[in-house]
Amino acid sequence: MSLPQEENVQSFPVLPLKNTVLLPYLFMPLSAGRPGSVAAVEAALANEEKTLVLFAQRNADDDKLSEESLYQVGTRAVIKKMQRSEAGVEVLVQGIERVALIKLEQSEPFLKARVRPLPLPDDGGTEVEAIYRAILDLAKRVLELSQPQAQIDISQLAAQAQGPIQMAYLMGSMLGLDVAKEQALLEAPTRVEALRLLHGYLSHEVQVLELRAQIANTAQNEMNKQQRDYLLRQQMQAIQDELGEKNPEKAELDELRRKLKEADLPDEVRKESERELTRLERIPPASPDYQLTRTYLELIVELPWKKSTEDVLDLVRARQILDEDHYGLEEVKERILEHLAVMKLNPSARAPILCLVGPPGVGKTSLGQSIARALGRKFERLSLGGMHDEAELRGHRRTYIGAMPGRLIQGIRRAGVNNPLLMLDEVDKLGRDFRGDPAAALLEVLDPAQNSTFRDNYLDQPFDLSRVFFITTANTLDTVPRPLLDRMEILTLSGYSEEEKLQIARRYLVPRQLSQSGILPEKLELPDETIRRIIGRYTREAGVRQLERALGRLTRKVALRFAEGQDHSVSIKPDELANLLGPERFRMERARHQAIPGVATGLAWTEAGGEVLYVEATLLPDGRGVRLTGQLGDVMRESAHAARTYVWAHAAQLGIDPALFRNAGVHVHVPAGAVPKDGPSAGVAMATALASIYSHLPARADTAMTGEITLSGLVLPIGGVKEKVLAARRLGIRRVILPADNEKDIVDVPELARREMEFIFAERIEDALLAAIPGLAPRLQEVTAQV
Ligand SMILES: Nc1ncnc2c1ncn2[C@@H]1O[C@H](COP(=O)(O)OP(=O)(O)O)[C@@H](O)[C@H]1O
Ligand SMILES: [Mg+2]
Repeated sequence: MSLPQEENVQSFPVLPLKNTVLLPYLFMPLSAGRPGSVAAVEAALANEEKTLVLFAQRNADDDKLSEESLYQVGTRAVIKKMQRSEAGVEVLVQGIERVALIKLEQSEPFLKARVRPLPLPDDGGTEVEAIYRAILDLAKRVLELSQPQAQIDISQLAAQAQGPIQMAYLMGSMLGLDVAKEQALLEAPTRVEALRLLHGYLSHEVQVLELRAQIANTAQNEMNKQQRDYLLRQQMQAIQDELGEKNPEKAELDELRRKLKEADLPDEVRKESERELTRLERIPPASPDYQLTRTYLELIVELPWKKSTEDVLDLVRARQILDEDHYGLEEVKERILEHLAVMKLNPSARAPILCLVGPPGVGKTSLGQSIARALGRKFERLSLGGMHDEAELRGHRRTYIGAMPGRLIQGIRRAGVNNPLLMLDEVDKLGRDFRGDPAAALLEVLDPAQNSTFRDNYLDQPFDLSRVFFITTANTLDTVPRPLLDRMEILTLSGYSEEEKLQIARRYLVPRQLSQSGILPEKLELPDETIRRIIGRYTREAGVRQLERALGRLTRKVALRFAEGQDHSVSIKPDELANLLGPERFRMERARHQAIPGVATGLAWTEAGGEVLYVEATLLPDGRGVRLTGQLGDVMRESAHAARTYVWAHAAQLGIDPALFRNAGVHVHVPAGAVPKDGPSAGVAMATALASIYSHLPARADTAMTGEITLSGLVLPIGGVKEKVLAARRLGIRRVILPADNEKDIVDVPELARREMEFIFAERIEDALLAAIPGLAPRLQEVTAQV
């Protein structure tokens, strides 16, 4: 293959250039010190034309040169003068023409390259003319600004030059450009491009020079060191800006300044933040204080000081939304609507603080979201669980390392408005220790008289929380500090019955899981028995959280089958669950059918809902006193003692041999796992178990009981009636003894369950014992008859 310029390809010695580029037409003095360079000069001088080629090195530190280490476009030059020196040789060269490197032919004793000429096309015409004139103007300006004394006449120079390109190369070499830029000028493939490049370089130069002049003018006053640093930095930034080399800190500060200007801030906050910003501009970006202050200002800018959403107070729509999102919970919904009604009638009234109480998974959080949706408010939640340190709520002062705003302010920032619905989860799990009492801080937050000027330690500016709609949640009220309780409106969500869970699953959980797994509803059928089996054997909870998770697992498994190619729709039978969900997690709890003396069926209320627990009593012949086992709390122990004292005191009445109390001890055990149990409501069950063991009469296995007792024999009311009744029913127990004062709570029990169950309301312990231990009745009657 023959190249067009084949005849022009020639070999020349190479003089590699460090830190500079020789442009055609121009003269340049050079000193060659490296042995290879000296040899190249010698070789050039040996030929008639004294010609060599010069290529700039890509990297000046490179001493072992190869094709890759040189730019591929260079200049053919002739040596005009030469003089030996101690260091090597001094030469004066003149650039002749551009050449392209084809190949390095030899590297020892000097580099030798095959090159071909690279003439510029005769392009442009008027365009060249136009840019050229602009360049001349710019060049004049550069000279005026940079060397006012040197009287260089550009027009004269131009007249002497052999045309635009020669002039361009000349000016390019005068600008002191870095190698890459100068090389780019050399490599420009057309005249127009070369001139454009130069035009760009010159305009930058003009801008830099103008700025420098301007700064010099303003910086004439006496300056202390700090001011000078500041100005230098300004100068550097101005120059960087103009060169388009924005430095990131400057860009950040500009952005901050802009945002501060645009933010709608209270006057006091604006003043303070402007002070901080001015300070920030003087801090070196590398100092830690810089980051701290910047982060702080970003918070100020982002906080919704005056931004809020408009409330939608349409009660019909609100009811619709609450119903849409949640099954049942009629009473709670009603109370919520009442609150909204108050807000509507009296908009200036402070937003109410609601407290949703109930076991996990009963829908507290999602109710909160629903209320927010109904009101058209933003929703944010923050968990107070395990919070010991007041600073978590209120933030650390900025002087602390790693200081941050407290959770409340963070929540507000996330919400982006100052009137979100803020859900404070787990108020019952607030801790307290030497670092302060978060409950006290919370009190202030929830107090309408104080929260309009809430002060976060980090923010250090009052923030108005009075428009926030606070909702708190708790699993139990027992551990919520009293003053906090007083401030809240309590709404109780008790657990769900199996029917309710089934409905919730059908209407909400299953459709949601199907859509999350990407399964069309008609593709997967979950019959009621299947869902019931999941509820009964894969979950044990008052809410529906485990249920939702199990349904999620199930639908994902089925989705996998579809993904693997199955395309007919499926219906999952209860028996297939073992394959899909693994072995059943809970054995069907079953009521104990066999009634033996000493066992009573109690009902307890835990944070997770209601539970059946058996109280077992055994006599210890030759023993003494009462022994209690089964992880019982103090209150439960006390009720065991009270029960024994009561039975002992009424031994004669109950037909029990009083000698038993003197000659035998009793052991009371409450099995059912290692679950810690406490509370006074097992009193009736304790008394029943003891009466049963001392009298050798079994208590009915189909009867569960709950109630606190007093030594005088009264049965006092207890909490959690609905959960307890549902727990009994889950085990197939259909008869429940309750304190008489709890009769009013029966309405809470879902109707279906209520209809199936028999309730006995006991006013005194004897009422309960009679109902629980059938054998006692004749004896009690006998005793009564004797009296
Ligand atoms: N009555 C209900 N109707 C529909 N879905 C419910 C109901 N109760 C609970 N859920 C659903 O159960 C899940 C758990 O509820 P969540 O609000 O997290 O409970 P909590 O906050 O009380 O622990 C959510 O997906 C919620 O939507
Ligand atoms: Mg929750």
